[in-house]
Amino acid sequence: MSKPTLVMPGPMMAMIMRQLDDAFNVVRLWEAEDRDAAIAAVAAKVEAIATAGHMPITSELMDKLPQLRIVANMGVGYDTIDAQAADARGIIVTNTPDVLSDEVADTTIGLLLMTIRELSRAERYLREGRWVGEGHYPLTKASLQNRTVGIIGLGRIGKAIAQRLEGFGRAIHYHGRRAQADVSYTYHGDLIAMADTVDTLIAITPGGEGTRHLVNADVLRALGSNGIFINVARGSVVDQDALITALQDGTIYAAGLDVFADEPNVPEALLALDNVVVLPHVASASVHTRDLMGQLVVDNLLALKADKAPISPVVETPFKGWKG
Ligand code: NAP
Ligand code: 8YV
Repeated sequence: MSKPTLVMPGPMMAMIMRQLDDAFNVVRLWEAEDRDAAIAAVAAKVEAIATAGHMPITSELMDKLPQLRIVANMGVGYDTIDAQAADARGIIVTNTPDVLSDEVADTTIGLLLMTIRELSRAERYLREGRWVGEGHYPLTKASLQNRTVGIIGLGRIGKAIAQRLEGFGRAIHYHGRRAQADVSYTYHGDLIAMADTVDTLIAITPGGEGTRHLVNADVLRALGSNGIFINVARGSVVDQDALITALQDGTIYAAGLDVFADEPNVPEALLALDNVVVLPHVASASVHTRDLMGQLVVDNLLALKADKAPISPVVETPFKGWKG
């Protein structure tokens, strides 16, 4: 029996490649000299795409692939995929929710503490021999102990972050499009009002047009000169230029960033700042968690082969059966 054709825009983990090579005819786009030509050569028979946000999966691309039935995303955030266009064409989009929530929440707490307590700067100080030469690293002006935290996006990961912060004794506020009946944290429908109330903001929403530049110059001004901003959501959620200005001129105190507007490029102006901790989009990046995510990607794709329901379709593409 011939294997269904699956397009993979960029390389994925070995455990994914191994299982997909067994079940599909995998077209490795990153190895092609001409990507468009490689897609055109198999367009009539492509049934699946497996991606980790390597390239936008647009309505135009879907229109070129008449047999496409599933786009399986490695990651809970699927802002590079036009899920509404997929639904209109009977294509299922799947993502990797839940299995990464604890890892991302753990990393967020790490990034928060690194930023507040200047841990990467303090480590550099020791490695540069300055503890011996100059004495103790200066006391940090900021502490988590007297902070009030506002979470932008109290979803699966936002709640895991909030639970951890409760353990640190922090009062928690949140912003989203609606108040949630089953949580005791303080809700703010207005993000500027929340930024005005708290001194620490953590963004953990989806990316895409709905949240583009949600954190703008006005929000940063409301957060204030003692304010700390942590972004583990998507780079698009904050106006990066406004953030750089706010960090340069003291409008806010510091930032911890795992995500950027144009990854993997990080502006020199950010790297030049001492009051920023930067991480290369690693919030879920442990072998343990990436294996769980990878298996979910594979299992969603194998569901198509087995004519079963996918495990984790996104809300925009509820499963009503495989088209075709
Ligand atoms: P989720 O459970 O769907 O939660 C998303 C939250 O964002 C919801 O509480 C939602 O609340 C809120 N939200 C959505 N649109 C909003 C808007 N326009 N304004 C304000 N709030 C909005 O998703 P999750 O599993 O927690 O993942 C969240 C996101 O984290 C992902 O989509 C991804 O972008 C990011 N992420 C990053 C990494 C990393 O490596 N840095 C790893 C994993 C995930 P309402 O519906 O009430 O508005
Ligand atoms: C991954 C993520 O880094 O799940 C997400 O939304 O941003 C991360 O877990 C990314 O998806 C790489 O595959």
